[in-house]
Amino acid sequence: MTWWQGTVGYEIYVRSFADSDGDGFGDLPGIRARLPYLAELGVDLVWITPFYPSPQADHGYDVSDYLGVEPTYGTVDDVTKLVDDAHRLGLRVVVDLVPNHSSSEHPWFVDARSSADARHRDWYVWRDPAPDGGPPNNWVSNFGGPAWTFDEASGQYYMHLFLPEQPDLNWANDEVRAEFVRIIDTWFARGVDGIRIDVAHSLIEDEHFRDNPVIAPYDPTAPPGERFNAFEHLHDQDQDGVLEIYRGWREVAAKHDAMLLGEVYLLETDRLRRYVEERDGLHLAFAFATLHSGWDVDEIRPMLAELVAVGGEHFAWPLGSHDDPRAATRFGGGEVGARRARAYFTLLCALPGVPFLYQGDELGLDDGVLEDDAAQDPVAVRNPGAAGRDPVRTPIPWEPGPGFGFTEGTPWLPFGTNRRDLHTAAAQQGVAGSPLERTRDLLRARRELPALRGGAASRWLTEDGAVVAIERTLPDGGPGGHVVGALHVGGGDGDATPATLELPAAGRLVYASHDGASVAGTVLTLPADTAVIVELSS
Ligand code: GLC
Ligand code: MG
Repeated sequence: MTWWQGTVGYEIYVRSFADSDGDGFGDLPGIRARLPYLAELGVDLVWITPFYPSPQADHGYDVSDYLGVEPTYGTVDDVTKLVDDAHRLGLRVVVDLVPNHSSSEHPWFVDARSSADARHRDWYVWRDPAPDGGPPNNWVSNFGGPAWTFDEASGQYYMHLFLPEQPDLNWANDEVRAEFVRIIDTWFARGVDGIRIDVAHSLIEDEHFRDNPVIAPYDPTAPPGERFNAFEHLHDQDQDGVLEIYRGWREVAAKHDAMLLGEVYLLETDRLRRYVEERDGLHLAFAFATLHSGWDVDEIRPMLAELVAVGGEHFAWPLGSHDDPRAATRFGGGEVGARRARAYFTLLCALPGVPFLYQGDELGLDDGVLEDDAAQDPVAVRNPGAAGRDPVRTPIPWEPGPGFGFTEGTPWLPFGTNRRDLHTAAAQQGVAGSPLERTRDLLRARRELPALRGGAASRWLTEDGAVVAIERTLPDGGPGGHVVGALHVGGGDGDATPATLELPAAGRLVYASHDGASVAGTVLTLPADTAVIVELSS
């Protein structure tokens, strides 16, 4: 068994987690001081978003030195101290690697754009203009506008799948490949346990730079996501050659017993599966389809069934992320949304693979409500009318008070005008039934039931109806070797009728996301928008 099998992950968005020095930005010493909180929460693996030197055009996803640390966040020494502390507490640390693009202020790009025959010119993607002088092809940036920016000095365009300040690296260049092997090897040697690979389905593009097929009308005033989706991304992402890169990295990781976790943002299972199924590329890939279903059993059941059929142990199952609306908001907001989010996470904890919390999910946080002029995310700032990702990135409210225990200064992004004082960690600590305590109970249950951690077979117990239920069985049985996780996806029309499910054997209720569930013999009774973990007798 590998160390990450059966773990529970937790994403830390570094700017918004904990600020130790009062500058309003979360930082590494702030995270380090909160590690005991994470250990008590019961997660095993902590992924920290980029803390490298960066002009912060995309809040750290524009890296200007892959081996350094942005002074706002701390020093390399702070990273190693954090890793040491984490290991003492039984936590693993995963850092973010951004290989698709660097910052335009990275010395490599500064050199590359200095002249057409510069030393690092070929480390980036340059093309001559189209015959009409426009961009070389029809590719668009994820963040709005063309994926090409014209460089006056050399008369060529450079490519960027994100901001112009995030030029794409050229992965057809062997020096780039060698350099990134050195980078990951260095981070592993510094003690980190794994890397989360940013836009892991990108990196390589079509060698002929062909146009992408247009599949919907392109409205230049639509939000960037919609404009991106006007094309079938046949040639600018998910190219065959990318797996070759991860095979090489996997060997580097093996030397350090480290793990590769890919942000493969492909919602079609058939495309996603390629990254993990040969077991020689990534160890784990995020299954982002979990963030795109409505509160509808007919969406949730087939989506999870399809992914688990591929081999669910290869997937990390996010409840949220720093890029997507929070689960509590997506599932209806308010108490209803928070309730559904917790129930949903219970089912994710019963799947093979690695369930993942985004910071604050354990407090039942919903998206922060922000004034229009608070926008910081380049997606919102540069695309008037686009919502952007700020609402999911508001700082964590640790305790009541002006800086909510997050900062003694002014936070870089407001907390949100919704009642954060009711949702602080301090207010929930030790309060039975609070979101925080329920999450702890859930993770304790998962830890105590070996059938949920790895090596167990999976079988779905329902094909229709409002309950989605998965049975997990260890071949050798034993205590906690036979378990069911079940979720009642309520109708959303206020129908609160409990559902019942016949279990394969008599069971004992180990965990319930909310009160009111019961097991009598082999019959499970489950209120709407509730999920449970049941241990079966044999
Ligand atoms: C990933 C990150 C996102 C970032 C983008 C560009 O999707 O999660 O936050 O903006 O890559 O690096
Ligand atoms: Mg700080």
